[in-house]
Amino acid sequence: MNSPKDTSRDIQLYVRVLESIDRGVIAIDQNELISLINPAAQAYTGLSERQALGRHYEKLFEGQSALIRMMQTASREGRSISDHENIQLRRAGAQPLPVSVSCSPIFTSSGGQEGAVMILRDLSRVRELEDAVRQADRLVMLATLAAGLAHEIKNPLGGIKGASQLLSMELPKDSPLQEYTGIMSREAERINRIIEELMDLTRPRLPALDEVDLAHVIGDIVIFQKEAQRDKDIEFTLKLDPSIPPILGDQDLLTQLFLNLIKNAAEAIEEKGRVEISTKVAPDFHLTQAGSRPVPLIVVEVSDNGRGIASEQLDQIFTPFFTTKTKGTGLGLATCQKIVSQHQGFLKVNSIEGEGTTVAVSLPFIRRHE
Ligand SMILES: Nc1ncnc2c1ncn2[C@@H]1O[C@H](COP(=O)(O)OP(=O)(O)O)[C@@H](O)[C@H]1O
Ligand SMILES: [Mg+2]
Repeated sequence: MNSPKDTSRDIQLYVRVLESIDRGVIAIDQNELISLINPAAQAYTGLSERQALGRHYEKLFEGQSALIRMMQTASREGRSISDHENIQLRRAGAQPLPVSVSCSPIFTSSGGQEGAVMILRDLSRVRELEDAVRQADRLVMLATLAAGLAHEIKNPLGGIKGASQLLSMELPKDSPLQEYTGIMSREAERINRIIEELMDLTRPRLPALDEVDLAHVIGDIVIFQKEAQRDKDIEFTLKLDPSIPPILGDQDLLTQLFLNLIKNAAEAIEEKGRVEISTKVAPDFHLTQAGSRPVPLIVVEVSDNGRGIASEQLDQIFTPFFTTKTKGTGLGLATCQKIVSQHQGFLKVNSIEGEGTTVAVSLPFIRRHE
């Protein structure tokens, strides 16, 4: 059995464990009053220890009947219960937090019951990943459809182009009708470009992995975009973390990815504005595959203070051909999504209409397959 010294050491250890884990732990005593709320639970609920301790849990979770029922089951019926899917933790002044919840009775060494404990796990990161996967799946399906369509269009398009050239040759050089054959040919060319872009998107090309210096890639794109957008007054700012080493990726694809994003940012600005590109190492970790070691994530953010995206359009911007621009193809973001997936990363858009947009690309350090 433990000596008293060991017991106090054990208690210190338990306290440290409770303070360090990234699970929220809330315990109630036999009177159903909160007897413990660890720092993670305080962060999730937005309640300080002082606000929570000694209060009845029904008061704490007022209006959140699912949580109350689960705690009741553990406390009054002495049964364990969990829900890993459906609970949103509501808290003051913040978005509801998706959580996984488990409640269990606490038993004393003599077999009696001494209250209950609730364990909360923050699922927001998991949900974000699930969303990203869903979006990528939808894209694969659309891309397959679109590839078939593109193939069908290319041949008749070639016919139209050829016919317009023949027509142009038959007409006298100074005929006013030459203008029309010119339009036919130019527009056919435009459709062709869209289709090429679409086929790029759907062509199964494996990324050619090499060491890519993101700062270099982004720097070059910005020089290029400054030139392309010189009729507007756009201030480009780079905040690149110099400690980020080259990452393993496909230089051409990553260039295309960031070019599309930076171009979109610049295009969102009417006359005068700001585009900021930053890179940083994310403080948390991302598991690429079950069983592999966690790898650090690099986050590249492209922000602009342009027109922003209406919330009802946020769902559509990744759909191939969705565009709000007269000269857009609507394939930019779909391509970005594909490139990010190929690099086992994910992409997130935050936007407020009229204020601006931030696109965050998270890329893991991919290791070479041995
Ligand atoms: N930074 C941004 N600010 C505002 N709207 C954006 C931004 N990026 C993308 N969008 C919206 O998403 C749509 C789709 O973008 P994209 O797939 O790149 O196609 P395109 O640029 O050819 O329109 C755009 O037409 C625009 O409405
Ligand atoms: Mg675009």
